[in-house]
Amino acid sequence: MNKRAKVFAHRGVSGHFPENTMAAFQAALEAGADGIELDVQMAKDGKLVIIHDETVDRTTGGTGYIKDMTFEEILRLDAGSWFGNVNTGETIPDLEQLLQWAVREGNELLINIELKNDLIEYPGMEEKVIDLILNYKLEQRVIISSFNPESLKRVRDLHATLQTGYLIEGIPENTLEMAKKIGANSIHCEEGFALSEFGREAKEAGFPLRVYTVNDETRSGLLNNAGVEVIMTDFPERFL
Ligand code: G3P
Ligand code: CA
Repeated sequence: MNKRAKVFAHRGVSGHFPENTMAAFQAALEAGADGIELDVQMAKDGKLVIIHDETVDRTTGGTGYIKDMTFEEILRLDAGSWFGNVNTGETIPDLEQLLQWAVREGNELLINIELKNDLIEYPGMEEKVIDLILNYKLEQRVIISSFNPESLKRVRDLHATLQTGYLIEGIPENTLEMAKKIGANSIHCEEGFALSEFGREAKEAGFPLRVYTVNDETRSGLLNNAGVEVIMTDFPERFL
């Protein structure tokens, strides 16, 4: 009998709160989740900010690419109203703010930082993220993931022991080979991969599988039986 997979709140509790906001992360802590997943992009002035898309268009009232805006400009945007959280004052958090929150007493959440550097190049992003993690002594609680294998290799070259998760979509045949090549510690995949022969092989080769994004709680039995380590969900309460 496999034990229950850990539950990570995907972009925070994004089923009930605006994604990637402090309200969504706080809700994960209160729900008793094991961890949170969040997305990081880099502003024009080098500030690391927590937002899924390369632009602010979908989740704020503004328009434009994060890479072309300063953090001061980004901070002025309302990150809650699009979701119906009107006048709650939610803004786009920066990564340091999140890490400061994460080291508060009573907060032991695992933190999966996804570097959103597969579509846009953010020079120096890996160094900046690692510096912040070390500054807050969060090495043991953080997992860095990315769809960009070169970026994960860079993380590994910069820091030998930080946990890295190779993100894949679908069921790419060369996953295990690539994960080994870049020195990743885990594979972050969709359910289809986790339940496939490739998923079984990867697990047997020592790569924990962390599965995104599962919102149907009736899948938990299958995933637990397959021995997945983490289920990432927008609705953690369904799995806890
Ligand atoms: O990290 C897993 C998952 O979040 C990757 O997809 O598009 O939700 O960032 P996406
Ligand atoms: Ca993500």
